[in-house]
Amino acid sequence: MIDASDQRSPTGEPVLSLRGVSKHFGAVSALTDINLDVHAGEVVALVGDNGAGKSTLVKVLAGVHQPSAGTITFAGEPVTLSDPATALDLGIATVFQDLALCENLDVVANIFLGRELSPLKLDETAMEVRAWTLLNELAARIPSVRIPIASLSGGQRQTVAIARSLLLEPKLIMLDEPTAALGVAQTAEVLNLIERVRDKGLGVIMISHNMEDVRAVADRIVVLRLGRNNGIFYPDTSNQELVSAITGATENSVSRRAGRLQAQQEQRDGSQL
Ligand SMILES: Nc1ncnc2c1ncn2[C@@H]1O[C@H](COP(=O)(O)OP(=O)(O)OP(=O)(O)O)[C@@H](O)[C@H]1O
Ligand SMILES: [Mg+2]
Repeated sequence: MIDASDQRSPTGEPVLSLRGVSKHFGAVSALTDINLDVHAGEVVALVGDNGAGKSTLVKVLAGVHQPSAGTITFAGEPVTLSDPATALDLGIATVFQDLALCENLDVVANIFLGRELSPLKLDETAMEVRAWTLLNELAARIPSVRIPIASLSGGQRQTVAIARSLLLEPKLIMLDEPTAALGVAQTAEVLNLIERVRDKGLGVIMISHNMEDVRAVADRIVVLRLGRNNGIFYPDTSNQELVSAITGATENSVSRRAGRLQAQQEQRDGSQL
């Protein structure tokens, strides 16, 4: 687990800072006393078991849910994210898991969906050019911006959804399970894309259940368990340590299995020497 003396701890003002954020739904405590920092140019992976509170946290930051307690500081200012439009205007973009794209519309139309009007009042050609520019900045492989979403692969759809979220030039982007439905090559594409977004200087929050993907792109890994913070880790943390933080047990079926496989591997390595 990371402690304050770790040399690799990110420095400088975080772009996003949560202190003591809680969210109750009636008697259910979905989030309790959450602290979280995200810096510009940093990918923070948010991990945790089902029901740990990840989506609730994203929804609080997207302005969908109001926190029951706590403070949110964004770009140095305390903020109230009273609705999704407020969050978006401040520079917090969200790519929800279902992507919310329109199958029958083309790539340009999807990127500008709901934003065709002023202050982004653009003609078709200008919108097409802007769409291409955004996709090129991401080095995205989309065959044409004039084909309907329905004819794109899962990875290409994720790319369009990310490009769409970058239209308003946010400072922070949140991705809920961006690789969940993707194959190996498409996952690699999307992870590359996330790195490019980070390299543009944005803060990135990525939710994922896939520890391999998390290790591949995250600068820090924030674990939630039963709605509470349960440790912050670097990607070189052992699987066993991460699994224990996620499940809350040092001894459980998953970590025992991981330990057994590791012991078998070590035995094999030893016998080869
Ligand atoms: N709108 C809601 N009303 C009541 N309870 C809710 C609501 N949204 C979430 N919860 C509860 O809050 C807790 C956290 O849920 P959340 O969806 O944030 O978990 P998660 O970490 O995203 O899980 P998963 O990995 O399954 O997506 C759960 O106990 C859930 O039942
Ligand atoms: Mg969820």
